[in-house]
Amino acid sequence: MAPYGRDCDSNSNTNLDNLSQRALILAPFGRDAFVAARILREAGVDAEMCNDLPMLLVELARGAGVALMTDDAIRSADIKGLASWVRSQPSWSDFPFVLLTERGGGLERNPAAERQMKALGNVVFLERPLHPTTLISVVRTALRGRGRQYESPERLEAVRTSESHARSAELELRRLNESLEARVAERTEEIEAANRQLVSQIEERERVEFTLRQMQRLEAVGQLTSGVAHDFNNLLTVVLGNLGFIERGVASSADGQLKQRLSHVRLAAMRGAKLTSQLLAFSRRQRLDPKAIDINEALTSMRELLQSALGGSVQINTVFRPGLWQAFIDPTQLELVVLNLAINARDASQVGDSITLETANARVGLAETPEEPPPGEYVVISVTDTGSGMTKEVLAKAFEPFFTTKEIGKGSGLGLSQVLGFAQQSGGGIRIETRVGEGTSVKVYLPRAADSDVAEASPDPTGAGRQHRTDATILLVDDDNAVREVTASMLRELGYAVLEVGSGGAALDLLDGDSNVDLIVLDFVMPGMNGAELARQIHSKFSTLPVLFVTGYADKTTLAEIGDARLIKKPFVGDELANKVHAALAEIGPRLSGKVVPLRR
Ligand SMILES: Nc1ncnc2c1ncn2[C@@H]1O[C@H](COP(=O)(O)OP(=O)(O)OP(=O)(O)O)[C@@H](O)[C@H]1O
Ligand SMILES: [Mg+2]
Repeated sequence: MAPYGRDCDSNSNTNLDNLSQRALILAPFGRDAFVAARILREAGVDAEMCNDLPMLLVELARGAGVALMTDDAIRSADIKGLASWVRSQPSWSDFPFVLLTERGGGLERNPAAERQMKALGNVVFLERPLHPTTLISVVRTALRGRGRQYESPERLEAVRTSESHARSAELELRRLNESLEARVAERTEEIEAANRQLVSQIEERERVEFTLRQMQRLEAVGQLTSGVAHDFNNLLTVVLGNLGFIERGVASSADGQLKQRLSHVRLAAMRGAKLTSQLLAFSRRQRLDPKAIDINEALTSMRELLQSALGGSVQINTVFRPGLWQAFIDPTQLELVVLNLAINARDASQVGDSITLETANARVGLAETPEEPPPGEYVVISVTDTGSGMTKEVLAKAFEPFFTTKEIGKGSGLGLSQVLGFAQQSGGGIRIETRVGEGTSVKVYLPRAADSDVAEASPDPTGAGRQHRTDATILLVDDDNAVREVTASMLRELGYAVLEVGSGGAALDLLDGDSNVDLIVLDFVMPGMNGAELARQIHSKFSTLPVLFVTGYADKTTLAEIGDARLIKKPFVGDELANKVHAALAEIGPRLSGKVVPLRR
């Protein structure tokens, strides 16, 4: 039995972890093995003794931290197996050997040591006899070194694992990054699209709000203007009516100066009347009598008037489109429109410039400004100049009544507002294209006449040609005492008997009584029961009794219902009052025709 066979028994209960910390001792001769094992064990090292080299190889294969060998154990032995074990170590392993040599057996004097060092690799030579402390320290150092080697495969593995983790994390990151970029691009595109939509919605809202504000402003100014114009028309009716009487009164007098003063008063009153009619045009409450008109023809006949109104400073070019549709408008207003635009164009131009007057057919879509026409078909008159153009600020206010950039006395600021009022009341609109320093083009859109409008023959509103009769009694209803007085005087002067009342109620009372009335002349706008309401009530009781309306203005639909033949405009100009009264009476025939209403006198 080998002296230390038990120690190297492979059935030893040493566990695997401890195996790797073992110090294997190969010292087959003498007591070296026992001594070394004891010293090491006392120092806490797990020391195992091996009988021979093959056993050492077996134990090495099972696991050890260091091998302590005496050089005589391997000097003459075949160490090929050991050398092969050493070579076959994994890369992390460099197994430590401690070789105990005889005194003087060091490398320099020991050629075998060279060979052993080569075969064993990591070898420490210790010369005997040695101090136990040296042995313990050398073995512990070797075990510590071996311990670090054990850690390295784990570390290596850990590094490898973490490297592979890092690589896969990097790959994942790259993949995420790429998909993130795609997602970011996608989201950015979505956000940009949403943003674009939002911006366009905001712009659209601002445009609509601006249009609405502009419309409300124009509407408010329009209402104010028409109220003022209405009151002025009443005043002017009184002034002009009385003036007529005074003029006739002094006709025989030889006082030329007095006559001249009177003519000044008439001129001033007529200018006032023109002003109120411009205001009413702007507020779209003027009386219009639309007809189907060939605009090319109408403009051609205006050419001379235009050129003389503009003077010789600018030239007028015309481009009249053949095949122009007919327009459905009041022809009397057309001249005013063109003159206003042409004068504006001339005022913006230099001497020698030319102005272009053009006509065209147009189909328009949704309006972008309150002045533009609603969608539909239009005949367009455009007046284009190459003059100063308008700034944004001027353009924004150009349609407002009394807005002018012209010096005092040169412009009243009513031109464009009047043109716009007329165009809109006719059912059209205006569009202005302008550039500072380059010029302006003002396009007036007039509604295209329907076939039925073209065929319609206009009745003679004056009743001219009919026989006049003056033996009639007229009931005059007006709440304004001064207007009523002057109107009654004018009618009496025409030869009629006139009954005057100041309200609709009084008129109905009078008609209900025992009286004869041939014609009723009503103020259209009255407090309480207005003219239209009174006319309805009269008509329900006395269906054949004719009614004429006197008006400073009225809304478009009411005016359209009544018709021009039954309307007399305040202030009375020319013979309109006489003509319309005559015409209305002529329609009902002589007094005893049966269309008579009892009248209480
Ligand atoms: N063709 C144009 N070129 C440049 N500015 C214009 C043109 N037409 C109008 N304007 C500007 O618009 C303003 C208002 O014009 P509008 O015709 O309403 O009044 P006006 O010409 O000043 O006075 P009015 O026509 O009552 O005599 C003008 O004062 C001018 O500043
Ligand atoms: Mg003008």
